[in-house]
Amino acid sequence: MRLSKEIRPMFHSIPPAMLARMKYLETRDAQDRDDGTPRMQRLRQIPPETGKFLALLLANAPAGDIVEVGTSAGYSTLWLALAAQATGRRLTTFEVLPEKVELARETFRSAGVDHVVELIADDARKHIEKFDEIAFCFLDAEKEVYSEIYEMVIPRLVKGGLLVADNAINHREALQTMLERALSDERVDALIVPIGKGELVCRKA
Ligand SMILES: C[S@@+](CC[C@H](N)C(=O)[O-])C[C@H]1O[C@@H](n2cnc3c(N)ncnc32)[C@H](O)[C@@H]1O
Repeated sequence: MRLSKEIRPMFHSIPPAMLARMKYLETRDAQDRDDGTPRMQRLRQIPPETGKFLALLLANAPAGDIVEVGTSAGYSTLWLALAAQATGRRLTTFEVLPEKVELARETFRSAGVDHVVELIADDARKHIEKFDEIAFCFLDAEKEVYSEIYEMVIPRLVKGGLLVADNAINHREALQTMLERALSDERVDALIVPIGKGELVCRKA
């Protein structure tokens, strides 16, 4: 028997406006890497396979808040928004640089996910404590803040909640302290997954 409203998997039903903005940001990010754009101006995005990985994890996360630290132009946020929309949820993302905030606002407007994403233009460290029931956190910020944000997020994760941190392989040395802490932390099951730049995945017991 056919259902009247067909439910399609997320990756096969990315809305055209979202797909167009993803493609635009992928092209712009690749150009940034080639043309010598200064580091702080570069988008420094996750690759598409990491976006899919995040969306799959988020679509299976328990109930609770969804938080992203480090929006840049909103590319990773679009993958999170895809999964949030598929499961009827919203998310909050933090970006501290005004030029990136402007680009991200344009991303969310043009991709039609304004109603799914709340963008807070500030340092995430000033806000994380307001979230008591985090179901999913994606951490992709300056490496100096990873340890501090890890210690803020883990106690606030719900049972089964996930913290995913980017750059666990390509910036392994800079993140050494935080990675060792996570891998030996008895509050979580943690693993580094070799996808994209390396994702640390921590699940709260
Ligand atoms: C690697 S980029 C994020 C890329 C983005 N997640 C993506 O894949 O599309 C890191 C961003 O984090 C921002 N950032 C760094 N520290 C932050 C903080 N404490 N709070 C909010 N944003 C921060 C930076 O300004 C930068 O735009």
